[in-house]
Order: sequence, then C-alpha cells, then structure tokens
Amino acid sequence: MTENASPETPPAARLHLGAAYYPEHWPEERWPEDIRLMQEAGFTVARMGEFAWSTFEPAEGEFHFDWLDRAIALLAEAGIVSVLGTPTAAPPAWLTHAYPDTLAVDEHGRRAQHGNRCHYCVNSTEYHAATHRIVGALAEHFGPNPHVIGWQIDNEFNRTCYCDHCRARFQAYLAERFGTLEALNEHWTTAYWSQTYSAWEQVPIPIGYHNPGLMLAFRQFVTESYCQFQRLQIDILRPHLQPGVWITHNFMQWFDGFDHYKVAEDLDLASWDWYVGMGHVDHLTCGAAHDLVRGYKRRNFWLMETQPGRVNWKPVNTALDRGEMRTMAWHAVGHGADAVLYWQWRSALNGQEQYHGVLIDQSGQPLPIYEEVQQIGYDFENAAPILAGSKPAPAEIAILNDYDSRWAIKGQRHHEDFDYVEHLLHYYRPIALRNKPVDIIPTDAPFDQYRLIIAPALHIIDEELAERLKEFVANTRRLVITLRSGVKDEYNAMLPTRPPGPLAKIAGIEVEDYYALQDEIPVKGRRVSGTARIWAERLKPLNNITTSIASYGPYNGWLDDQSVATVNMHRQGVIYYVGAYLDDRAQQSLMDMVTGQLRIEPVMQTPLGVEACKRVNAEGEDIIILINHTAKEQSVTLPWPAHEHLLELSIEGTVRMAPYGVLVLTKRPEGPTDA
Ligand code: GLA
Ligand code: ZN
Repeated sequence: MTENASPETPPAARLHLGAAYYPEHWPEERWPEDIRLMQEAGFTVARMGEFAWSTFEPAEGEFHFDWLDRAIALLAEAGIVSVLGTPTAAPPAWLTHAYPDTLAVDEHGRRAQHGNRCHYCVNSTEYHAATHRIVGALAEHFGPNPHVIGWQIDNEFNRTCYCDHCRARFQAYLAERFGTLEALNEHWTTAYWSQTYSAWEQVPIPIGYHNPGLMLAFRQFVTESYCQFQRLQIDILRPHLQPGVWITHNFMQWFDGFDHYKVAEDLDLASWDWYVGMGHVDHLTCGAAHDLVRGYKRRNFWLMETQPGRVNWKPVNTALDRGEMRTMAWHAVGHGADAVLYWQWRSALNGQEQYHGVLIDQSGQPLPIYEEVQQIGYDFENAAPILAGSKPAPAEIAILNDYDSRWAIKGQRHHEDFDYVEHLLHYYRPIALRNKPVDIIPTDAPFDQYRLIIAPALHIIDEELAERLKEFVANTRRLVITLRSGVKDEYNAMLPTRPPGPLAKIAGIEVEDYYALQDEIPVKGRRVSGTARIWAERLKPLNNITTSIASYGPYNGWLDDQSVATVNMHRQGVIYYVGAYLDDRAQQSLMDMVTGQLRIEPVMQTPLGVEACKRVNAEGEDIIILINHTAKEQSVTLPWPAHEHLLELSIEGTVRMAPYGVLVLTKRPEGPTDA
C-alpha cells in the first residue's frame, strides 16, 4: 500500500446491492418513486455522479451540487448509501470547446470529437487544471457527507493519446528512466534499421509494429500517465474524506492498455465492470476475471457494474436467461465481491445507450428482471449475517500475471493465435473446473502462502524475480514454468541465453528452438496424451535427473520424439516445464496430475456446470457457495450435513439444485436439529 492509500481495509461487514443511478436525467418529482423501488429490491447502495460534470459545473467555476445533496439525502432516508464518481470521464462541452487540446489525439493524428467518453488527453495540463477544480469542489462539498461511503475515480480508464504534448512527456519520461541516450540506444539496439537517437525529441510514440523496447516503454509510460492522473484526484479527495471512506476505480478486467497492478496501487479497493455481452456466462473464464480483480489489491473487491439482462454493444444483444443474473451475483460473491451493482437503474430517454439493459424501463415501470434482482436482495439480506467480514478461503495455487510479458508477446506474437490471456486461462480453467481456489497475482506479490505457482509465458524476467522463484521452490513446493518464459529482459531485449534464461538451471532444460504450428502435433505420455497446437518447443535436458512427461509424435523431423514437458527437482521442490500448448483434454490431465500430486483439495466435488466457492468469515467458519450455472436441474452430494442460509433449511446427502440454483451452506453442528 502506498502512503496515498487509506490504512483502513474497506469494510466488508455486509454485501451491498445497488445500481448506477443518474438522478440528473429525471425530474426531481420522480426520485422518490425510484428510491421506493430500489428499497423494495433490497438496495443498499447507489452509485452516482460519474458522468455529471456538465450538471455539476455548467460554466467554468460555477458549481451546482444541491441536487445531488437532495438525492443522497433521499436515498439515505431509505437506508441506501451513496458512492460518488468523479466526473472526469465525461468533460463538459464548454471545456473541450475552450480548450481543444484537452481532447485526445488518435494514432492517425485525429483529435477526438466531443460527446463520447474518456476522450480526454490524460496528460493535458489544462485538463489537469479543470480536474483539480471540479474534484476539489466535489471533495470539499461531499467529503464530509456521512452517507457517501466511497468514491470512484473517473470511469474505466481506456484511452491512449498520441498528441504532441503526450509525446514530449513520453520523451521526458524516457530521459528520466534511461539517464542517457547512449543507455537507451544500447538497450533498444537502435543501430538496427538506423533508429539511433541523438536527441530525446527524435523519439516517436510507436504506431503499429515498432522497436520492441520502444513499444514496451510506451505502455509503461501510459501506465504512469494514468497513475499520475488518478493520484492527482486522490490527493485532492483524501484530505476531505472521513476515516473508512474508500477510493476505487472501476477497471475492465483483462483490458491491456495499462498495468492494472500499478494503477490499483494508490486505491483502497479494486472494482470492476462485468458484462457477459452476447450469450451466457462461462463461469470458468468469468471466475478468472473475478480472481484477477481480487488480485489487483489481493483483497475483496466490488462489482461496480454488471449486466441487467442485456447490453447494447454486441452484434446480437441477447438477454441472460431467467435466473442467470442471480447466479452471476453469487459467482461474484463466491470469488470475493462484497457488492453487486447493476448498470444502470433506468435508461435515459436519449443518449447513446437507449437500448442497454436496465431495471426500470422508459415508462418508469420495473422490467421482468427487477423481480430477480429483488430475489438477490432477499438472498443478500439472508446471507448477510453469515458472510459478514468473510473473504475467499486462502488459495494454495497462484498464477502469475505480468503486463510486461503480455505486451512483449502481443508486440511479437509469432503465431496470430497466440494470446497471452488465453494461454493463462488454459492453466486456470482446468484447476477451476475442479473447484480448487486460485489466486491470480502480479510477480511482485508475496509467494509464501502458496504450494504451487504457475508462471504462464513469463516472457520477461529479471534476476530478482528469477531469484524469488528459485527461493520459492523448496521442500514440497512446486513451480510450473511454461513455454515462452525467460526470453527477454525488462527492456524487451532478448536475453543472451536460451530460454527459460535464469530459470533454465532449476527447470533442468533449455529451449533449443520453438515452432509456430499450423497443424496439431501428436503428444504421447503415460499421464498426458493428445495433441499440441499453436506452439511447440524443443527441450534439451541439462542434467540426468530431468524426466520427460510426454513426447511429440512424428511431425516435422525437428520435434519428433523430443520432450513436450519435463519435471526436475530442486532443493526437494519440483519444477515442471511445459513446452507446448496442449489440447484441452491433455491440459486437464496435466493440471490434475500437478495439483493431485500436491494433494490440493477441491472446495467440494460437483458435477459439470456446478461450481463450489468457499469464503471464510471472521469466526473462521467455512461458507460454501454452490452455484448451478446451467439451465438444467443438477444433483450434488454434500460433504456434510448443512445449514442452507438462503431458505434457512437443514439439508444433507444428495440434494437437487434447480436450474440456475444457488445454495449457501455452512456445516451443521453435530447433534439434534429441529429441521
Ligand atoms: C461501461 C460503462 C458504463 C456503461 C456500460 C454499458 O461499463 O462504465 O457507463 O456504458 O459500459 O455496458
Ligand atoms: Zn495527449
């Protein structure tokens, strides 16, 4: 935690339910009816203000906050607290008109048009000044309000600006980081294609395919730009906030425009916006997104926005099934969410998102899905006592996620289908399928709590990280290193060694060569068999204890009979190296083998499509959240006689779960019960 973040852990005393609410779109006479409907749905929170700049400050320096005072007060009377957004994602027209340089420029040199969102230049001095003024006024006015429990900075940071001002800032950033042009030229091998720079002003913002060192440094600069812009706001807000009032930003899961760990550093709480879009929830992939966000700050998070029924931005904006929103809410909670908020309460009559899913329609009446949200309201209320202060059970498995490695690979995929996140999920899914909890963490997180660390395509690695991983592997702990790891240094230059570079010795292999695959290769081993696709490496053992887990069948001559994956011992620990992208079944066998050897226990055994998540409350009590993600009835055998908290029932043995059913269970104490 940086000195900016509040020392308080955000309160998780209850599960919050709510929505994004825009009272500024509606006549004030309507508000009491909205709030009555919110109350009847069991709402406890409303998020407001994040796009209201033109209502807050209709002319430069002229502020109108009284309307929001009244909305907050009305909500509070109904027992609903408020989260306020700083409105910087949507500047007013007078501002962008008077200061056109505040609008971002795209890679083709076109300046953004007013009227969308996040279209500001994140480094614009004039934008910073305007931000300072509006956030300062908001902080002073609403900071002391006891009904405002948290703040969201901006909304879904996502833009990259290519303007001249950003370019100059980028050059200054490089000068600061490299010290001398000689160092930069050296690390980036700029003699290649005569890129050598003799003045900082010559360094461009990379557009498209460019020097890997330059491309990586630019992403790091964009990260730094958002950190600074966010810190500017946090520093203004913080002194006005009461103790316990938190600051967050609503992130977009795997979006790769900046390093989310760095941007989350100054926040108290991570939150994210979960949209299924078209089709249905794939709970293995979505579970990874929750675990990713939980890993931003390695603590519980908020689901700041989620989908009420449908979105408006997919080719076909299908609706979720009846019951699916409820499983989504519990899925989020199972993975560590302390709040679920829908976007949005009611759609404005005009504006770009008229067709988006909402809870209240244009006529002001609740939509059919409102009832389901009401059900979630009852659920949360019933489960509140048992879940108070709880968090997901500590995971024994961690998957490392590294933005630098991801950007480096994205810049040079080598196979168009090689996607860093897909590859990471290829390791996550088979473990999640078995209900074994996983943390997704940055490379600088502490490793001590884990027994198994998976480092998927850890392309960029420095000595320090290599040392920490070597240190980790000892006794019974295991490390899985996968293809494309240990290839480059922090400047995105090739290491002058064979992969996995500093990890080669502990892996007991080095990569002699790698092959992008157009067809599948047969893979044969005692426990792991099937095919490899997309990527295959030829591994050379470095000692005589390194053992092969599987070999390639006949393919291109170079790979035939070579090891696909190996296992080596180091200080009583075990290191696997996986040199190929296996098919799903082979991957399942591999991960079952690795986690099985460690005897990592599932939360519970469940049939396909039923997920079991575990949270542990302040009393140390285990709470199992069982979710049927399918549209069909399923049977589940409980591990112990249980108390079910949503319906207050005692259940045991094999129970039936309704389509999209949810059970919240604790172990029933021994002895007679009255059920
Ligand atoms: C994003 C935004 C919201 C809204 C939704 C629509 O998540 O943060 O304001 O536009 O998308 O899906
Ligand atoms: Zn710019």
